[in-house]
Amino acid sequence: MDTLTLIQPDDWHLHVRNGALLKLVVPFTARQFARAIIMPNLQPPVTTVAMALDYRREILDALPAGSSFTPLMTLYLTDNTSPAEIKKVAECEHVYALKLYPAGATTNSDAGVSEVARVYPVLAAMEKFNVPLLIHGEVTASEYDIFDREKLFLEQQLSDIVKNFPNLRIVLEHLTTKEAVDFVQEASDKVGATITPQHLLYNRNTLLAGGIKPHYYCLPILKREEHRQALLKAATSGNPKFFLGTDSAPHQTHAKESACGCAGCFSAHAAIELYVEAFEKENALDKLEGFASFHGADFYGLPRNTRKVTLHKQDWQVPKTYNQASLELTPLRAEETLSWQLAPASLD
Ligand code: NCD
Ligand code: ZN
Repeated sequence: MDTLTLIQPDDWHLHVRNGALLKLVVPFTARQFARAIIMPNLQPPVTTVAMALDYRREILDALPAGSSFTPLMTLYLTDNTSPAEIKKVAECEHVYALKLYPAGATTNSDAGVSEVARVYPVLAAMEKFNVPLLIHGEVTASEYDIFDREKLFLEQQLSDIVKNFPNLRIVLEHLTTKEAVDFVQEASDKVGATITPQHLLYNRNTLLAGGIKPHYYCLPILKREEHRQALLKAATSGNPKFFLGTDSAPHQTHAKESACGCAGCFSAHAAIELYVEAFEKENALDKLEGFASFHGADFYGLPRNTRKVTLHKQDWQVPKTYNQASLELTPLRAEETLSWQLAPASLD
């Protein structure tokens, strides 16, 4: 097969930052996806509907002329989020969910939730108003091994959340383990999950064997091969609980290539191509459209897209960096050849 046509996909987990970096990265996503769930982990975090609407405006202003890309905004859940704010979210057509970061779990998560029990009144309001909760599922205490943090979160926190709030819609973001796949599969249909391209394509050897490769460092960290295999199986299973979320998380090259490099892979430049590569290797290209274009929309209760996009099997080289004034961003797979390419005309 050398041409692939599918309904335009959506990205259900995306970081676009703000300021000059936002202007650099937003067009990459707008070229590929119809909609994206925008993560709220700015500094300061996006904690109110009013802030989310300002942020949305900044994203819209960065879109190329004629783009119909739609940012779907989220709020950052903190210990101080009020149930009243949840009502505002439910009434706002541009804000779709709240994101739970356990305090200290990842980039800009200092304002995150210190103890999940503290936000139970807010979760009750979300359940009542049918506002989804998006979760970065890792425990954070320093005694826990970084490779075990997702699995421990399921046991220590998530099982209680789903038990206490059976009607709360939950997206467990960026799955990285077999245990997380099993958890989502066994949970009710209120629980869905996103899977990133890097967790489908790479294991922890990519990050650590033969030299540390900081551009493959993201959180939750890449795991063993058996976990990658479980993720591939879930993504290509046709199960509507699993859907596309790139977690494209741009950081400047100097911040990644550092003695203390920060977590996040920038993948928006080639997101759909990377997923095609993963699905093709599994002989499961027929399952891509459901995962990329239908399951997420169905879970969020949004209409499926109708426009189609086309990819061609044709080699292209990912640049070493993307630059804008003094900004420099190193993309995932920099200077490597990818074998699928999204046809630009298809998005006009
Ligand atoms: C994300 C970021 O940089 O904002 N980094 C990452 O490694 N995934 C934060 C996040 O989603 O955890
Ligand atoms: Zn993320």
